Amino acid sequence: MNVNIMNVDYSTKIPNNVNLSEDRQVLKALEGWHPGYMNWWSDMGPEGFQQSLVYLRTAYSVDPRGWAKFDYVKMPDYRWGILLAPQEENRVVPFGEHYGEPAWQEVPGEYRAMLRRLIVIQGDTEPASVEQQRHLGKTAPSLYDLRNLFQVNVEEGRHLWAMVYLLQKYFGRDGREEADELLRRRSGDADAPRMLGAFNEATPDWLSFFMFTYFTDRDGKMQLHSLAQSGFDPLSRTCRFMLTEEAHHMFVGETGITRVVQRTCEAMKQAGISDPTDVARVRALGVIDLPTIQKKLNLHYSLSLDLFGSEVSTNAANAFNAGIKGRYHETQIQDDHRLTNDTYPVLKLVNGEIKRVDEPALTALNMRLRDDYTQDCVKGLLRWNKVISTAGYDFKLALPNVAFHRAIGEFKDVHATPEGVLIDDATWNAKKSAWLPTNEDGDFIASLMKPVTAAGEFASWISPPKVGIDNKPGDFEYVKIET
Ligand SMILES: [Fe+2]
Ligand SMILES: [Fe+2]
Repeated sequence: MNVNIMNVDYSTKIPNNVNLSEDRQVLKALEGWHPGYMNWWSDMGPEGFQQSLVYLRTAYSVDPRGWAKFDYVKMPDYRWGILLAPQEENRVVPFGEHYGEPAWQEVPGEYRAMLRRLIVIQGDTEPASVEQQRHLGKTAPSLYDLRNLFQVNVEEGRHLWAMVYLLQKYFGRDGREEADELLRRRSGDADAPRMLGAFNEATPDWLSFFMFTYFTDRDGKMQLHSLAQSGFDPLSRTCRFMLTEEAHHMFVGETGITRVVQRTCEAMKQAGISDPTDVARVRALGVIDLPTIQKKLNLHYSLSLDLFGSEVSTNAANAFNAGIKGRYHETQIQDDHRLTNDTYPVLKLVNGEIKRVDEPALTALNMRLRDDYTQDCVKGLLRWNKVISTAGYDFKLALPNVAFHRAIGEFKDVHATPEGVLIDDATWNAKKSAWLPTNEDGDFIASLMKPVTAAGEFASWISPPKVGIDNKPGDFEYVKIET
């Protein structure tokens, strides 16, 4: 690994390890884009707190032993940089028709449109989540959580920079236009919405935020893993480094939900409540009842499944054949990495029943990635259920069936219970308030969302974390609030 790759160039406005100072054209394009980005951040980034000092980590190198530095920084002064994982010598295209050929350092002309589309879709999700979460600072349950929210937000901002760098460096004029469009679309906007459904949904409260970072950021993780396999080497290197940051986002989700469940169980125990489904009694304690947590989980998991697209997809097959988007852990899979004669079992609707049907593996790649995702999701469920059973309660959080509450793919036109039983419209309408959060549930959760800003203190509905960020003590002042 060469020294230049390891150190970020702070001599220009944009920290980077891609030698921007010698790449005047791209540097100029990025510097031209920068003011628009700062405007976007001030309009659509976190509401308030822009003058507060936040204890953030800033990526300054890609060295696995120390890529980030923690310090107090005002969010607008955060160094959004461009960092690519080091180039692997002699890397080859690891799958598809070009399997074994040297990885591309430039965009192959025939795949230009496909690559640009994938980069734009990934790029669009990054600012979208910041927009969705912008109001949450006002109701943070602690300074620790407030800091984690802002950490996620600035890093999603950096991920936007990462995608914009690729667009501006490798796609010329239309890349620059796409980069501008990424700042123009807005989550939930009627005229110019973000590209994917889940990124236009509201994130009304902190439980939604934790569910989002657990389930929706995890879709991001799966997509980044697939793109990290790309034969287009700059995309691969970009995504590999983004995954380093993404791990913290999912940590925030997983531990956030753990702490909510923990607090609920503690409060129920203390009050002598033996039935966790006695919603009114549990809510009276100022904590979120487990059935409502299950409903939020149902919502966010099903919205996130939609992000994987149709189970059977020729686009996915084309991207794989082209060597542009691979499978999760592609290089660790023991097969020919071409999939020309393989099949993969896909859940489909056959004569009104949910059945597994063997499809050509190439067209079933979305389904496969979604299956890998579901497996990855299960880990958190095990942890949360452990907390519940350790507290002595007979209640299990569960992932709903893939046919439940879907807007994309095989099951978009049918209704199913969380257990996967197909039901008619009337039954769905009668039962859905037991499965998905209602307005009343939302109002209750909203009533708990009161900011707690004293160092070391936490809202009634969430436990403190086991350890601090950067090993800081429990009463550490993660955000010095300046109003
Ligand atoms: Fe991201
Ligand atoms: Fe993320």
